[in-house]
Amino acid sequence: MTSKLNSVIRNPLPEKWANLCRGIACSPLPIFYRPAVDSTSSEARRAAERGAPEGSVFLADVQTRGRGTRDRPWHSSDPEGLYFSILLRPSWKLSDCLILTRLAAASVYEAIGSRLRKEPGLADALRIKPPNDILLRSRKLCGILVESASVQENVEFVVMGIGVNANQTDFPEWLASRATSLRLETGRYFDPAELLVGVIRRLWSRYNHLRQNGPESLAADWNDMIRNEA
Ligand code: BTN
Repeated sequence: MTSKLNSVIRNPLPEKWANLCRGIACSPLPIFYRPAVDSTSSEARRAAERGAPEGSVFLADVQTRGRGTRDRPWHSSDPEGLYFSILLRPSWKLSDCLILTRLAAASVYEAIGSRLRKEPGLADALRIKPPNDILLRSRKLCGILVESASVQENVEFVVMGIGVNANQTDFPEWLASRATSLRLETGRYFDPAELLVGVIRRLWSRYNHLRQNGPESLAADWNDMIRNEA
């Protein structure tokens, strides 16, 4: 991939992403969009190695080599899903970064939960399955992949990759019994730009809070969120 990244600030986006630019859902962070990429997390890693700033978000409609945990593939050829990665540069030790998976899970859980608040029965069926899954009615709705690069114990950068099953209406056979999407569960369309901004805002705010106040600042919220662990 040698083409230049497109910042939403400078370039027109497809209508699907219009709400990234409109006032109602303006992202606090720079977003780099491509229609297709191998993996937004690989893209973020390459950009990090070229010196991209903390907070850069890498977004694609589809991934050709989406990656999950434990070297598993992440199904992401369907443009109805939401696929993005965020680059962070905390000046922490590697061992301090474990909490970032929780931070991502908490942010996605809240962002999706706020969109499901008016759906009878569904908001209560949203669960965090530690460390990195979000389930809806016991089926996978979102996966999180946190990767880092370090020099000895010192973190150089962290890439948080997040995949949300937003508007898919079907899944490949091997996945169909384990996965679900917001659309399948509610029968309605979820604006991916609004979902994205909802996650980014929460994640960025929690991340800054964590940097100032330490890991305990997430503990109480987290314990609440996993009380009904799936
Ligand atoms: C899991 O196995 O549950 C984690 C899945 C993470 C998928 C996301 S989609 C955006 C980002 N790019 C990738 O290649 N993976 C993550």
